[in-house]
Amino acid sequence: MHHRIPFLLLTALAACTTAQPSVTAPKLAAATLAAPIPAAMPVVTAKAMVVSAHPEATRIGVEILRKGGNAYDAAVAVQFALAVAFPVAGNIGGGGFLLYRGADGQEGALDFRETAPAAAARDMYLDAQGNVIPNLSTLGHLAAGVPGTVAGMWVLHQKLGKLPWKDVVQPAVDLAAQGLKLTEKEAAGLNRTEFISSLTNEMVGGEGDLRYEEVLTSYKLMGRNWTVGETIRLPDLAATLRRIRDQGRTGFYEGVTADLIVAEMQHGKGIITKQDLLNYQPQWRTPLHGRYRGYEVLTFPPPSSGGVALLQMLQMLEPYNLGRSGWHSPQATHWITEAQRRVYADRATYLGDPDFGRVPVPQLLEARYNRQRMATTLPYRATSSNQVTASATLPGYESDQTTHYNVVDTQGNAVSCTTTLNGAYGSKVVVAGAGFLLNNEMDDFSSKPGTPNSYGLVGGAANAIAPGKRMLSSMTPAILTNNRKLALVTGTPGGSTIITSVLQSILNVVDYGMNAQQAVAAPRLHHQWLPDQLDVEEDALLPAAQDTLRARGYVLKPRNAWGRVEVIRVLPDGRLEGGADPRGDDAAAGY
Ligand code: DON
Repeated sequence: MHHRIPFLLLTALAACTTAQPSVTAPKLAAATLAAPIPAAMPVVTAKAMVVSAHPEATRIGVEILRKGGNAYDAAVAVQFALAVAFPVAGNIGGGGFLLYRGADGQEGALDFRETAPAAAARDMYLDAQGNVIPNLSTLGHLAAGVPGTVAGMWVLHQKLGKLPWKDVVQPAVDLAAQGLKLTEKEAAGLNRTEFISSLTNEMVGGEGDLRYEEVLTSYKLMGRNWTVGETIRLPDLAATLRRIRDQGRTGFYEGVTADLIVAEMQHGKGIITKQDLLNYQPQWRTPLHGRYRGYEVLTFPPPSSGGVALLQMLQMLEPYNLGRSGWHSPQATHWITEAQRRVYADRATYLGDPDFGRVPVPQLLEARYNRQRMATTLPYRATSSNQVTASATLPGYESDQTTHYNVVDTQGNAVSCTTTLNGAYGSKVVVAGAGFLLNNEMDDFSSKPGTPNSYGLVGGAANAIAPGKRMLSSMTPAILTNNRKLALVTGTPGGSTIITSVLQSILNVVDYGMNAQQAVAAPRLHHQWLPDQLDVEEDALLPAAQDTLRARGYVLKPRNAWGRVEVIRVLPDGRLEGGADPRGDDAAAGY
């Protein structure tokens, strides 16, 4: 993601364009050092919309809606289409979280997160001295958790789908069989990735004790130079998707596909077994509810940390008049960063799979608790992260490249789903003969207490590895309503930055009056407690604001663009406004 955000026009220009709703001008820009809000045009439709990371997936989702499918049918079709069109993160070999709110107010949170295989163990990534072995939890067969996506889509469709299963899977089969043209970003992604067929000892850290057989795969030609506009066909993946189309869940977790997964594991010293695949079960969880400035906020519970952290931050920030301080002003940035710092400290201590230990969610979401957390904040001085530890007063935990899509259908049913292989192309392992990539989600566990994972996140007992356990996530699908009417659907990839990006998409709309496209395109800021630094995207802060923040004790770290936020906003007249992140090939469309 080295994309320079192509929208430096000022608010004044935004106000001159006729097609978009008015934008709240940042007040007192000079006095507060608020940054100008960049102009950006949303897609506006009358009643239905899909926003996803790839134009083909968006097109397929809209097609399903036009055929009479509901938002859930479209979500299944988009999920499978992304597995073909967006292999960097779209998947059938990974997992995710899908949040929905029906037009009738019915809601649900479907957890199809991967699980640790039965043979996994707490110290499986540590050497004899107890140190983390580099790359073992991120690259290769041992990095993969038991995939959850196909089982998740199957139970979602059984509960809420309207069109036949075959009809919603078929477009992805066609896409894989007929092929699709590579965008510039995809060609570049494939060219810079070494897939498992070329994995060598060097790539797993030079330990010399890991040997992988060469694996022949659909992606085996990825060592060559792909060019923009070239058509990529994935026959093995098409065959796998046909088995899923014809046999549902069984087409993945049993029979030929399961045999191929297990054979692949045996080639590469992986540990996922047939029994692991058979045992995998998605879980229906109870969504979390919060409030922010008159909006009801619906989001995802553990094993995501995202929903808890988002609601905590919204509680912490509600007393402050962020709008009056101005967008990305030093003062607003100060309060937002201090909230982020505190919430990520809590995350590291308390959050983990609720099926394996008690996660103190009610306590973390108590207004009094979050007010107390902010009481240690100084008005004009950064708190050092060393002084922010998780609160000792809670009961504690009792136990020993991702992508997002949104769908709103003509009835007003809404889906917000984040799905992932974890890193870009996951473990880089393609299941030979089955044509799909396996996740490297095991790295989301805490391999060793206090040792950061690939997102710099630390954790402890609450997120230690155990057989069958789900690794802690940051994925934060969220749906906002206003007086029980759908108002905003949001979510993003980005590892540890997911939670703060979703927060900013909400603040951008609620506190700063941005339209959906501005809300996703606007440059972002991120703090995650450790390391104690504020990540700053290009153009996010005025130079003078940066000076002010430095003087307050913040360490600012310029960082390349992150996240791919997708937003659907419901306008007062009921039309839908779509924001697709310009950092990627993301696309919003509907009718
Ligand atoms: O579940 C999580 O929090 C991570 N596996 C998400 C990874 C991610 O967003 C990568 N995308 N940039």
